[in-house]
Amino acid sequence: MALVSGSTEHTSEDALSALVNLVEADLEACNHVIVGRMDSPVTLIPQLAAHIVAAGGKRLRPLLTLAAARLCGYPDRDGGARHVELAACVEFIHTATLLHDDVVDESQLRRGLASANAVFGNKASVLVGDFLFARAFQLMVEDGSLKVLAILSAAAATIAEGEVLQLVTQNDLTTTEARYLEVIQGKTAALFAAACQIGAVVADRSEREETALAAYGMKLGIAFQLVDDALDYVADQATLGKTIGDDFREGKITLPVLVAFVAGDERERAFWQRTIEAMQQTDADLDHAMHLIAGHGAIRATLERAQWFVQEAKAALLVFPDSAIRRALADVADYTVQRLR
Ligand code: IPE
Ligand code: IPE
Ligand code: MG
Ligand code: MG
Repeated sequence: MALVSGSTEHTSEDALSALVNLVEADLEACNHVIVGRMDSPVTLIPQLAAHIVAAGGKRLRPLLTLAAARLCGYPDRDGGARHVELAACVEFIHTATLLHDDVVDESQLRRGLASANAVFGNKASVLVGDFLFARAFQLMVEDGSLKVLAILSAAAATIAEGEVLQLVTQNDLTTTEARYLEVIQGKTAALFAAACQIGAVVADRSEREETALAAYGMKLGIAFQLVDDALDYVADQATLGKTIGDDFREGKITLPVLVAFVAGDERERAFWQRTIEAMQQTDADLDHAMHLIAGHGAIRATLERAQWFVQEAKAALLVFPDSAIRRALADVADYTVQRLR
């Protein structure tokens, strides 16, 4: 496949596969570490973990670690595989949060398959999520860098804070856009930022480059979650591999809802108050919600917000000289919003 040009003409899959192509051997090694390290004599653990790991997933966060390390010149002539082990560690943290998140959200579909909680039950999902979290910490200890440990453990705490903050704002239409951004920055973007930053840390690069990569990851993660929140109201379920309308049924406050609520007339506001705040929903309500969201241009508004963060993400990369890997990272930022097109 042709390498990315920095233009936005290629499809969204192209942007991601261009990055995959650039770090292919590392990603394969990372997948080996993932499969190897989810093993346990307690067979339910590898069984459940294999269910969600084999279901696929884009491996976006480990790809970011691998690419960030490469952008920073790691491994150098002396070699090294720290980025591979740490990329696996990042995916373990992500997978653990997905297992927990699907229990909290009562989601039935993940990565195109029945979710682990649907197949194995809530208890097993929570406990195996804990196991994967613990494994992630073992990988960090094996890496031996206190700095990496500080970055990733801070991200893990921030993810949990974001999820709890979201729980607190659920069913509350007085939630501000700033508060919503705080939620998504915590639950999603913090891990993107950490995944990128540790790439610079293993390469022993300057504080400036470390900060730039963390900023790139943070803005990218915010854009990614904004788009994900829009997709919950417009995506094709089979393509997305997750159930559409989960956010609505949970009474989650996301930007599409906030925009439609603020723009709505009295009748519409009463609809949102009944469905999102009072959680009194009928089967027809999701369709009506989608209709209101579309009618007020709330998907477009969310996309525009995401696009702003994408520009910020790309700008953060400019401290690095131009290279194929930098262009691929810039294109991955475009990819996050192209998922919505
Ligand atoms: C899902 O992340 C959780 C969100 C932050 C929206 P991804 O969409 O990256 O999930 P996988 O790993 O590809 O399944
Ligand atoms: C993703 O949040 C989970 C975390 C980032 C911890 P969501 O609940 O919004 O994402 P999906 O839709 O289940 O993937
Ligand atoms: Mg969820
Ligand atoms: Mg959730």
